[in-house]
Amino acid sequence: MANMAAAHSDRKPSRLDPEAMPRRDFLGLAAAGSAIAALLAAIAGMLRLPRAAVLPAPSKKYRVTLPESLAPGTAFIPPGRSTALFRGADGVYAVSTICTHLGCVVKPAPDGFHCPCHGSRFAPDGAVLKGPAPSPLPWVAVSRAGEGTYVVDEGKAVPSGRKEAV
Ligand code: FES
Repeated sequence: MANMAAAHSDRKPSRLDPEAMPRRDFLGLAAAGSAIAALLAAIAGMLRLPRAAVLPAPSKKYRVTLPESLAPGTAFIPPGRSTALFRGADGVYAVSTICTHLGCVVKPAPDGFHCPCHGSRFAPDGAVLKGPAPSPLPWVAVSRAGEGTYVVDEGKAVPSGRKEAV
């Protein structure tokens, strides 16, 4: 056995034997491979970027059925919406609940709306009762779509006082 190993190590190298790779070449190849792998990872990361990470905003136009028990002068704010609807004998109307001062969402109150940010107060028809809000809450378009059902378009302002038939 020892003779075989000695005979093997004494063998004269053939010109067909692969050359041993010098350490410098090996390190160079390893560095190039690492750079290519990092580049591919960066490209894969960039390809993921264009995907939108936000949800589309809900439509500003929506259908709502007013509760039968909604008393005149009482605000009904559909969940997730920024509009208050009122029903009276003379019709239905909708008022934006976005404060005209700096855009906070106003809260319904017995006398209309209160803004929790800087204390503005509004009447149920949106008129300013107390500043600093500079202007009334805007009215938005309402149209009748059926018995007790209405279509509200938060993106379409209408002049104050325009009501939809009950
Ligand atoms: S945002 Fe409503 S009073 Fe300032």
